[in-house]
Amino acid sequence: AAPVTVSRLRRMKSEGKPIACLTAYDYSLARVEDAAGVDFVLVGDSLGNVVQGRPTTLPVTVDDIVYHTRCVVPACERALVVADMPFLSYTDERAALDCAARLMKEGGAQMVKLEGAGDQTGIVAALARAGVPVCAHLGLQPQLVHKMGGYRVQGRDEAGADALLAEARQLEAAGADVLLVECIPAVLGERLAGELAIPVIGIGAGAACDGQILVVQDVLGITPGRSPRFARDFLADGGSIQAAIGAYVEAVRERRFPTPEHSF
Ligand code: KIV
Ligand code: NA
Repeated sequence: AAPVTVSRLRRMKSEGKPIACLTAYDYSLARVEDAAGVDFVLVGDSLGNVVQGRPTTLPVTVDDIVYHTRCVVPACERALVVADMPFLSYTDERAALDCAARLMKEGGAQMVKLEGAGDQTGIVAALARAGVPVCAHLGLQPQLVHKMGGYRVQGRDEAGADALLAEARQLEAAGADVLLVECIPAVLGERLAGELAIPVIGIGAGAACDGQILVVQDVLGITPGRSPRFARDFLADGGSIQAAIGAYVEAVRERRFPTPEHSF
């Protein structure tokens, strides 16, 4: 199958075909995901939690993401490989460009993702000018856990929702290619997908987003501790890891996941 590109993701959005995304950190699972038709594979800094056993994503380094991206890239014949920029690796344009250079040249990533709101638009613009495909990440931003004092649904009230929408528009205007939104009300996810030209990928952002993403450990029911409301264990209904990941992709494509019980 032809490799997934940024323009392919845009076409899927305009054709109303949901984009199926998962995280991956290693070759074996990334191969299963690619074979199951996952469109967008994220080497997330959630590896701090699920691979390294840390309580937050903050300790994850650029070296860590480069290492795991190098493990994932050889497995992805079709899926677009996206790598997270870790906490404090994109504090200014120079730092962001240096980080992107490592993730793309050493790691082999095809897109980078960064958390951030309105004040990151200069950085997104600098990356876009340099030819780096960018996924922006709004809503719950796990890198801000100590600032926010926990992990909570974002954009619940009207002012918060309007601010998030304004930031999303600015990031799109700055050249972001994809927007990921985490833990926002389903109605706001729907508004974002409707108002932006770029694909909007949700995690805990309702069924109307242009695509869905989950941490693969959550899909396999091996998340340590309590799993988040937006997660679903697809292995519980299937006999194998391959079947579980296939069932996830199919449920996203047919808009059977998420349901209201996985949404806010
Ligand atoms: O690091 C991560 O896994 C993420 C999620 C949004 C999937 O950023
Ligand atoms: Na992340």
